[in-house]
Amino acid sequence: MAQKNNDEQFKNVISHAKEYGFVFQSSEIYDGLSAVYDYGQLGAELKNNIKTYWWKAMVQMHENIVGIDSAIFMHPKVWKASGHVDGFNDPMIDNKDSRKRYRADQLLENKIDELYSELANFSAENKAKFEEFQQEILGLRDEGQASWIPSFKDEEGILESTKYPFVDEASWRFVKKGLALEVEMNLALKSENLAQLKDLIVDYKVICPISKTSNWTDVRQFNLMFSTQFGAMAEGSDEVYLRPETAQGIFVNFLNVQKSGRMKIPFGIAQIGKAFRNEVIARQFIMRMREFEQMEMQFFVRPGEDKKWFEYWKEARLKWHKALGTSPEKYRYHDHVKLAHYANAATDIEFEFPFGFKEVEGIHSRTDFDLTQHQEYSGKKMQYFDNDLNEDGKPYGNYVPYVIETSIGLDRMFLLTMINAFEEQDLSTDDKQDSRTLLRLHPALAPYKVAVFPLTKKDGLPEKAREIMDTLKFDFNCIYEEKDAIGKRYRRQDAVGTPFCITVDHQSLEDNTVTIRHRDSMDQERVSIADLASIVGNAVSWKNLLA
Ligand code: GAP
Repeated sequence: MAQKNNDEQFKNVISHAKEYGFVFQSSEIYDGLSAVYDYGQLGAELKNNIKTYWWKAMVQMHENIVGIDSAIFMHPKVWKASGHVDGFNDPMIDNKDSRKRYRADQLLENKIDELYSELANFSAENKAKFEEFQQEILGLRDEGQASWIPSFKDEEGILESTKYPFVDEASWRFVKKGLALEVEMNLALKSENLAQLKDLIVDYKVICPISKTSNWTDVRQFNLMFSTQFGAMAEGSDEVYLRPETAQGIFVNFLNVQKSGRMKIPFGIAQIGKAFRNEVIARQFIMRMREFEQMEMQFFVRPGEDKKWFEYWKEARLKWHKALGTSPEKYRYHDHVKLAHYANAATDIEFEFPFGFKEVEGIHSRTDFDLTQHQEYSGKKMQYFDNDLNEDGKPYGNYVPYVIETSIGLDRMFLLTMINAFEEQDLSTDDKQDSRTLLRLHPALAPYKVAVFPLTKKDGLPEKAREIMDTLKFDFNCIYEEKDAIGKRYRRQDAVGTPFCITVDHQSLEDNTVTIRHRDSMDQERVSIADLASIVGNAVSWKNLLA
């Protein structure tokens, strides 16, 4: 089948997800609610299987990690302490003509991409040189050495074009401008200088994609937390937030879990749960939603051992992704140059979606920031007494632990899984045109593990098929189908990723054998009914992913 372009492939995945009951637009009959989605009958199964894979890998495979399920509503002071009330903002700007609202940094990023598009005219060698230089420049900024900026800005002066003798002058001017803008935008964001962001939008002649004008309002901060009313509270304030991350439910329970579970450092607390963000620009299907789910783990460590554990979790989390059989080139790390105020190291695990490499998971070394903040705001000690002996033979004593966080978006992982599994295969032969759509899901993640078909609807075949269903259904999610020709039934199961189809025919009544068809190879073999549970069980076992 002709190679589809990325846009087309992504659209096909979205319509496939709807057609087969994986994902629906929320409140669709009322024209939908923007950036909110519902998981359908197969989506809910796939999502549960992804959760199980994560939970088993993080909690059940680690003796020193336990899981909790904290409430979505939390005391409003939690979000003051965490910094979300004051700092969880996006800088927004409105175009007065189209009345459309944009994230100021995204408008600028689009402009930067436009200027960098001239890199296509560079040789591979010059492109690599430029990228090295870009990293150096952006690194300088983060180390607080921004004094070079004026020289960068003045009259093309930052780089000697002789350093790039093979670069087309005209292209170089654009790329250099892109780099200047990137640096200035990052500085403005870091110092939260909203006026400077507006100046950049004006200076670099950014226009509204709809009105095509540059008639902009000032840039304003827009907090991403949803708030709601919560009856009467003691302090007279009744505004509570829908949590924007699950992590804080772990931090505030740090001592409860440590004491009740007699946990010894290093140890982790994991949870899976909903999070809510009033994303202004929500796009790319379930990539950026207003209501989504996170799978987060906070790993509490001794101060000074944070770097070691950061490296450990960085590697362990990528291994978790790769165990699913995804081709390794589809993944990469993106180390943060610009760090959040609470972090001393951070990296994203990025996946190559049809719209480019994007973050699926973050690994953050959050220092003792959160626990210290909660200690301050609650007045309760958030310390751990470590009676292990240090190099001097004395107990480490009391301290606020450091934290390494792993945080993966369940919905993004779901999208990644669908995109990765989706395949349109051309099965045409010289005599016949044929094709199939296949979800090549890992068997452990597949919504149905087994489909059971009687070849025909009579002669006792449905009864025999039901008998098989009734023995397998305790261990595996099975589906029974007797409608349509067998080939059509196979295709339907291929499209939803069912790894095995079992067909009961007349021979089955005589010798207790059936045909089992394998989804990926389409091979069929005759096996004893007594062996079905072990054939399916071996293929779908979590051991294949976790061992
Ligand atoms: N506790 C840290 C934290 O929340 P984050 O980078 O803001 O960090 C972690 O979010 C993960 O949550 C991201 O890597 C992404 O997979 C997912 N995520 C964040 N915002 C999202 C949104 N609006 N829609 C879907 N997933 C989102």
